Amino acid sequence: MGKKQHMVITAGPTREMLDPVRFLSNVSTGVMGYVLARQAERLGFRVTLVSGPTTLKPPDGVTFVPVVTAQEMKQALSEVWPTADILVMTAAVCDYTPVEYSKTKIKRIEQQTIRLRQTEDIVKWFGEQKGKRFVVGFALETENYMANAVRKLQEKNLDLIVLNWYGQGNNPFGTAQTSMILVDRSGAQKKLDRMTKGDAAKIILDEILKRCAKKD
Ligand code: C5P
Repeated sequence: MGKKQHMVITAGPTREMLDPVRFLSNVSTGVMGYVLARQAERLGFRVTLVSGPTTLKPPDGVTFVPVVTAQEMKQALSEVWPTADILVMTAAVCDYTPVEYSKTKIKRIEQQTIRLRQTEDIVKWFGEQKGKRFVVGFALETENYMANAVRKLQEKNLDLIVLNWYGQGNNPFGTAQTSMILVDRSGAQKKLDRMTKGDAAKIILDEILKRCAKKD
């Protein structure tokens, strides 16, 4: 048997700490990334799951790397990147982090201004130096769905992007059934109509495998 392909999957939100007990984050549950990790392991991949805080149990047989912040997620990915063949970035990385971190709890005052700076675009960083690796991003949109997804695919140098959207009857969070559209670099689209994330994960992995075979 040949060497197992190494699939690195990120999941969940990141948390950007304001003080020891408060943070900025988002409503990502991590379900999509965990389901993908489980299916990929079953398909015979060596899987590393790098996850922000969630309530989920990591699947058996998967190397689990818990992280909190965007910076920690990038650091964890840098460590596994040299052996990675495929990166699937489902994580909802916070776009902003506080400029200042307060070592003590911020006092309650009438008005508070918090200065934020952008976090690094992690998948873009790895996408730009991917070489032969296959890099997949996710895009959660609330407007101009397809145009935004295609722009992200190009800007981040991805091989495939999975578009999901909030609104028009679709809720991509948690375990509910959801619709998605896969878009690749040639512009080819595949619509996944209202299905569980388990079923979606099988199709997404299948589409990744087909394209990886062509890339080799
Ligand atoms: O936030 P955005 O819609 O640009 O996210 C699209 C893709 O970029 C996702 O795969 C997400 O994991 C990734 N991303 C990232 N680093 C960020 C923001 C997003 O890797 N700071």
